[in-house]
Amino acid sequence: MKKVKQEKALTYLEPGPLLLVTTFDGRKNNVMPLSWSMPLDFDGHFALCTGPWNYSFAALRKQKECVLCVPGPDLLKTAVQIGTVSGADTDKFQKFGLTSLPASRVKPPLLDGCVACVECRVERFLPAYGIFVLKAVCVWENPSCADKRIIHAVGDGTFRADGEPFNFRRLMKEKLPPGL
Ligand SMILES: Cc1cc2nc3c(=O)[nH]c(=O)nc-3n(C[C@H](O)[C@H](O)[C@H](O)COP(=O)(O)O)c2cc1C
Repeated sequence: MKKVKQEKALTYLEPGPLLLVTTFDGRKNNVMPLSWSMPLDFDGHFALCTGPWNYSFAALRKQKECVLCVPGPDLLKTAVQIGTVSGADTDKFQKFGLTSLPASRVKPPLLDGCVACVECRVERFLPAYGIFVLKAVCVWENPSCADKRIIHAVGDGTFRADGEPFNFRRLMKEKLPPGL
């Protein structure tokens, strides 16, 4: 994985990819798939939605850190399987043969094989809707990832990989954040 500029976080998270969210509970690492996320501004704030029925929730509340890992098609089936078990009673890294790599600013790990990983700190929790407000603190890209298409969950158990790209950069010039 290669560190890239912080602004790149938006380009991975704005398209609404399926994420693998790693956490550290003070004893061990855990990971969960998550499709409910969104950018909040141009300053690296993002929102995630989850709740206490997931083991990851307590780690997010207490340790206030996570890594948002963006899997490509190669990891999709594994990502879904990861969502069928809980870190409460399963070491998912061992069960699914996941390779963790050290993050630089937070304790939860990066996931090897992902297209990109965004290290985040939890800044706020909004209990009414289980919304965590995160600040991206470091962004990594995987230059050796062969298939860099990101995955979109449809919500009914089906998924889509990125399709045809369209480039309207010139038309959007005034609306693009500095650095992108
Ligand atoms: C494709 C997919 C998307 C998911 N998205 C979310 C989500 O956005 N929010 C959430 O709370 N749970 C989501 N889940 C469910 C959790 O990933 C699942 O309950 C997981 O086992 C929790 O793991 P944990 O108990 O180790 O934290 C999703 C599961 C799958 C398979």
